[in-house]
Amino acid sequence: MTQLIAPTDEGLAEAARILRAGKLVAMPTETVYGLAGDARNDRAVASIFEAKGRPSFNPLIVHVPDREAAEKLVSFTDDARRLASAFWPGPLTLVLPVRYDAVLSPLVTAGLPTAAVRVPAHPLAQKLLHAFGGPIAAPSANPSGRVSPTRPEHVLAGLGGRIEAILDGGTCAVGIESTIVGFDPVPTLLRPGGVPQEALEACLGTVLAAHDAADITAPGQLMSHYAPRASIRLSADTPFADEVYIGFGSSAGQDGLNLSPTADLVEAAANLFHFLRAADELAGTGGKIAVAPVPEKGLGRAINDRLRRAAAPRS
Ligand code: TXA
Ligand code: MG
Repeated sequence: MTQLIAPTDEGLAEAARILRAGKLVAMPTETVYGLAGDARNDRAVASIFEAKGRPSFNPLIVHVPDREAAEKLVSFTDDARRLASAFWPGPLTLVLPVRYDAVLSPLVTAGLPTAAVRVPAHPLAQKLLHAFGGPIAAPSANPSGRVSPTRPEHVLAGLGGRIEAILDGGTCAVGIESTIVGFDPVPTLLRPGGVPQEALEACLGTVLAAHDAADITAPGQLMSHYAPRASIRLSADTPFADEVYIGFGSSAGQDGLNLSPTADLVEAAANLFHFLRAADELAGTGGKIAVAPVPEKGLGRAINDRLRRAAAPRS
């Protein structure tokens, strides 16, 4: 049985106790729910991979309460510090060399010399990190390759019975995963996400290098991801009769499925994963979904990235 834990002081103490026992708790963050385990505990980390059915070569993000805690795990560059000062706590993940004295399970990095670290802004994630007192490994709390969860019921639908508990934080405000930046050695966009590329570039005063999609040394960018059961057609100005339509702006969707009637990309990101799930329900097995065009700027880049992966041929 997976228990739903209330966001109270007692609930947080219970969630921290579960983590200390090496078990798993789904934790709300401002982006999506994470499947949290003790990042120092090999068995806890192994059970994250097992619960998600994730290929073990795919490394996990380590969540810490602040930059000071991050500096104990990875070696920062000046650019990394600049980004951390500007965007932490928040939806930004930095991939940096692991320190030789970092206390992390080697399973977290899947054998890579780098680790992905992030300081979440969600108050419950912050409280849980403080109550637990150590680094928390947390991939998105969905079965591998499926749509990320932005509500407790999404976690329950995907992982119910496979994890100890879900800390109830309601709906995630950002709704799309963190932006991931690597430094090898120049700042490189590894995954578009909750912090727009334009904001990162303005902070650094330079253009981010593009990640080579064929480079599997930076994994996790598997092409088919976020996949609902239905097929998906992108940039559809109008739907065909047999398609469930997700709209944007003036392209009104079906049954209220408009990512943002006012074409607000922040609102669209927050709605994306929930609407993909809702459209999938409406379409049914073997059904079809069409999605209106979303502009390729700001958070639209992350939205389009997730939509392209959701639409990609499944392996
Ligand atoms: O918003 C988020 O980032 C959410 C919340 C829970 O924090 N987490 C999340 O984790 O999206 P996940 O595991 O679903 O995605 C993490 C991505 C994967 O694509 C993984 O391959 C990449 O981060 N990653 C982790 N460590 C890496 C490393 N050392 N080098 C390159 N990529 C790495
Ligand atoms: Mg994920």
